[in-house]
Amino acid sequence: MRITVIGRGHVGGALARRWTAAGHDAAALSRDGGDATGADVVVVAIPGDSIAVGLANIAGLDGNVTIDASNAFGDRLPGYDSIAHQVKAMIGGPTAKAFNTNFASIYEAVDAEPMPPGTLYASDADARQVAEQLIRDAGFEPIHLGDLTKAPLLESLIALTSTLDRGELGPFFYRFNRPGELAARLGLNPR
Ligand SMILES: NC(=O)c1ccc[n+]([C@@H]2O[C@H](COP(=O)([O-])OP(=O)(O)OC[C@H]3O[C@@H](n4cnc5c(N)ncnc54)[C@H](OP(=O)(O)O)[C@@H]3O)[C@@H](O)[C@H]2O)c1
Repeated sequence: MRITVIGRGHVGGALARRWTAAGHDAAALSRDGGDATGADVVVVAIPGDSIAVGLANIAGLDGNVTIDASNAFGDRLPGYDSIAHQVKAMIGGPTAKAFNTNFASIYEAVDAEPMPPGTLYASDADARQVAEQLIRDAGFEPIHLGDLTKAPLLESLIALTSTLDRGELGPFFYRFNRPGELAARLGLNPR
């Protein structure tokens, strides 16, 4: 896939590197702007309070399939249910919310895990396949919450993830298992 990542910081830079390693054509843009024309998917990884100014600087965004990975720590911008809704209003294509509950500082440790860690995501139907593919190609297992109406829930999880991060746990992976699933997939005997 041709992937334009907006933001080349901890999240955008690392995801672009991981997708390039997985065989995609990924380019990361930043506040100096750029052109997303021809991209199969646009990934937004800039501060949640910089969406309007950040996206206004990028040409060729109209109607693109989009994945928003951003979080915001302050008040939500009035007029939008979530950052992902603001991104969708600006770009106008099918939109997913993903990666905002994963810590960029431990992306490189993903490959050493015995099972892919989880990535909670929400998506419009027409963005789901692309989002799932790119979650898997970043080394994670997609956990679908539902359509984009679940984006506010995902964004609200920053309160939980940052509390755990600042506490005894530190940056962490997560996954959700059906009963017996982990033992079956790893070929382990139950305790
Ligand atoms: N770090 C994490 O573990 C993590 C996890 C999940 C979600 N997130 C969210 O993902 C987003 C990116 O986080 P990050 O850790 O990658 O941040 P970061 O390392 O500080 O990088 C931010 C990127 O956004 C760009 N940027 C900042 N202001 C901009 C603007 N006004 N217009 C255009 N681009 C702008 C920066 O451009 P320059 O390179 O030009 O400075 C940089 O490339 C944030 O919304 C964050 O809350 C972070």
